[in-house]
Amino acid sequence: MSILEVKDLKVSFDSIMGKVNAVKGVSFSVNEGEILGIVGESGSGKSVSSLAIMGLIDDRTGSIDSGEIIFDGKNLLELSEKELCKFRGDRISMIFQEPMTSLNPVVTVFKQLKEVYKIHMPEKIKDCRRELVALLSRLNIPDAEKILDKYPFELSGGLKQRIMIAMGMICKPDIIIADEPTTALDVTTQAEILDLLKEIKNENNSGIILITHDLGVIAEMAQRVAVMYFGNVVEECSVLEFFDNAKHPYSIDLLAAMPDNFDGRFRSIDGNVPNLYEKVQGCPYYKRCKMASKECLEKEPEMIEISKGHKVRCLKAKDLVREEVKNG
Ligand SMILES: Nc1ncnc2c1ncn2[C@@H]1O[C@H](COP(=O)(O)OP(=O)(O)OP(=O)(O)O)[C@@H](O)[C@H]1O
Ligand SMILES: [Mg+2]
Repeated sequence: MSILEVKDLKVSFDSIMGKVNAVKGVSFSVNEGEILGIVGESGSGKSVSSLAIMGLIDDRTGSIDSGEIIFDGKNLLELSEKELCKFRGDRISMIFQEPMTSLNPVVTVFKQLKEVYKIHMPEKIKDCRRELVALLSRLNIPDAEKILDKYPFELSGGLKQRIMIAMGMICKPDIIIADEPTTALDVTTQAEILDLLKEIKNENNSGIILITHDLGVIAEMAQRVAVMYFGNVVEECSVLEFFDNAKHPYSIDLLAAMPDNFDGRFRSIDGNVPNLYEKVQGCPYYKRCKMASKECLEKEPEMIEISKGHKVRCLKAKDLVREEVKNG
């Protein structure tokens, strides 16, 4: 059952060069007890979409122009800041891309974690130190008592990320958004953190949105995948369908660029994502696409469902499926 539905979300920013449409109509859903992997090139709008779900778009520079974010029957975009605070951290939490910039360097770990109790569970505050020691120990943090009294700058990257995960887990949220939670970590710590996320999902039946550039992590962790390009989701399907039968030319190129497909040389995708200030006509992948033809320049492709649960934003997708059926 879906617990979070993002529908036609549009987010823009004001900049000295004018209005920038960073997220251009993103839709996806997350089911209970499921990991939805989000992949896509840098700047494709993954973090901005997540921040919008959390209600963290700074309204001095950014604005949510349209869309709905449905959680527990409510459209989060219609809630006041005070109402949203009840959900944020408690029912929906986020593990940020950069633990060092998300933790306050001059406040001890304990004080920062205690803040969550103050806001969401004041009745448990007397007991919170004991609970936190138990939680940190469960997250394989050695000597949790001592770590609680340290400052973030005294901790290694892996430990800081575990503290961020602990912060996100205190209230056992229904949804966790993990934005590249392992990017800055060595492979062993990365594997441990990912195992931890899986455990949390299984224990609490939480839905997890896992943003990563690593398709290996997607294969290992996710049940479904959303591929983003130039501020939009261009393909959404099950993880098996993605690795066996991806249809969007960008997804196909991404898969071909995996190190696993090394055939004497590493492949990359030629060209760049269009600049957000550029006026793009038709499909934004046109210039890089091996399958592009003139009609792709004529109109922006819409998302179409090519089979149950498999959606693709490409004019050619239906033809490719028809051809496959014809060729058996
Ligand atoms: N405050 C802001 N003001 C102006 N533009 C912004 C702002 N925040 C984000 N953007 C722009 O929005 C676009 C999407 O950014 P976002 O951070 O969501 O990308 P991303 O997909 O998370 O990339 P990465 O993989 O590098 O983390 C980018 O082009 C970025 O420059
Ligand atoms: Mg990001």
